[in-house]
Amino acid sequence: MRKNIVAGNWKMNKSFDEADDLVNGIMELLEKKELGKNTLMILCPPFPYLEMVSDYSNDSYFMVGAQNVNDNEKGAYTGEVSAEMLSSMDIEYCIVGHSERRAYYGETDAMIAKKVDQLLKHEIRPIVCCGEVLEEREAGKQFDVVKRQITDGLFHLSAEQFKELVIAYEPVWAIGTGKTATPEQAQEIHAFIRKTIADKYGKEVADEISILYGGSCKPSNAKELFANPDVDGGLIGGAALQAEDFVNIALAF
Ligand code: PGA
Repeated sequence: MRKNIVAGNWKMNKSFDEADDLVNGIMELLEKKELGKNTLMILCPPFPYLEMVSDYSNDSYFMVGAQNVNDNEKGAYTGEVSAEMLSSMDIEYCIVGHSERRAYYGETDAMIAKKVDQLLKHEIRPIVCCGEVLEEREAGKQFDVVKRQITDGLFHLSAEQFKELVIAYEPVWAIGTGKTATPEQAQEIHAFIRKTIADKYGKEVADEISILYGGSCKPSNAKELFANPDVDGGLIGGAALQAEDFVNIALAF
């Protein structure tokens, strides 16, 4: 059975002490209320805090992910972080192709494909983001956009490799805007993504992949979103910066 996953993308937020407080807050809450057996929590702090968060994760409340990785193996890429480095710190997951990276840092599907290759080579599971911008949604192009992102970014993988992925559908118009996709909109496109995967890799592979929703997901709407058969959890931004909100989202399955 595929996992329910709630991943917190902290983006470029919090000082070291604040990040430490957030992890402790999450752990305190999880001591009182246990997550569902099939629920996996992943925390994705900024690079400098990975080790601190990872040390806490030894208590196995959650797993740890990075927010980005370089698409090259190693070398003269000042300021960058490689998959090999993350792997040497036992980081288990990494977000790839977030819309903010596509929009502000020019990430293309081809670069995302190389990043995914690097991560899989070093046994880190990619959380691959896809999703349309507002104009594309208004023009009814969301299906074409998401299909292109998945095809160009991921369909070079073997079925065995593909099974290692987590997909996050994040409509760009819903990220950080307070405007959430309706449960029907989320289910419609998640089912489309699963079918796109099934057409290429078969139903068995498609049924194993967790497809997360991202975009203004919060405790008040998580239950409705996660109740859909093809919505297997969330990639959470703003609400992941608050221990109580984040844990309540993880308890919404
Ligand atoms: P948000 O961000 O929850 O703040 O909308 C989601 C994301 O960007 O992953």
